[in-house]
Amino acid sequence: MNPNDAAIGRTLIPAAKIRDRIAGLAHRISDDYAGGGLLALTVLRGGFVFGADLIRQMDPEIAVQVDFLRASSYGDRTTSAGRVDVAHPPPVEDRDVLIVEDIVDTGRTLESLQERIRNHGARSLRTVTLLDKEGRADRRCTLDYVGFRIPDLFVVGYGLDYAQMYRHLPDIHVLDHGPRPEESP
Ligand code: PRP
Repeated sequence: MNPNDAAIGRTLIPAAKIRDRIAGLAHRISDDYAGGGLLALTVLRGGFVFGADLIRQMDPEIAVQVDFLRASSYGDRTTSAGRVDVAHPPPVEDRDVLIVEDIVDTGRTLESLQERIRNHGARSLRTVTLLDKEGRADRRCTLDYVGFRIPDLFVVGYGLDYAQMYRHLPDIHVLDHGPRPEESP
């Protein structure tokens, strides 16, 4: 699909609902890490909005540190390329790592990240994702905290992009396909 053929469609999850759900996730995570700390490892680029909102709703008593890594699997397409590139993974040895993802689709990105982090000596590893696409039975990654389970739709907004656009939208929208040239009147 060409970027010019795409348009923002209906709102799937409004900002207020996202905010409420994140408060619940932050509460649960704070309970699980009570008395300790964690390294919130946000997966760029898409996770940056969720990660920023999530950590600010966590219990201030928890020692939260943040870091980032860059994983890429989609390119500019609307289907997974099946290839995961990871740039500059931060040190995780003896750390209690919480991977922060915006969306899990095929699970290949997360599977690859979880394997790397375990192999690099993390003391513990959990994963939170805002969105989890339903119907992916063949995944080998693990999800500890899930914001919303969604159908197999291409979604944008709240950090999620199509061809690097729409990350700034406060709501999560379905991406609509515009008319293709042969369908135009
Ligand atoms: C998205 C998302 C996940 C991954 C999920 O990242 O942030 O990391 O795809 O897909 P998967 O479960 O099929 O592996 P993307 O590669 O689009 O990069 P971005 O976050 O920079 O947009």
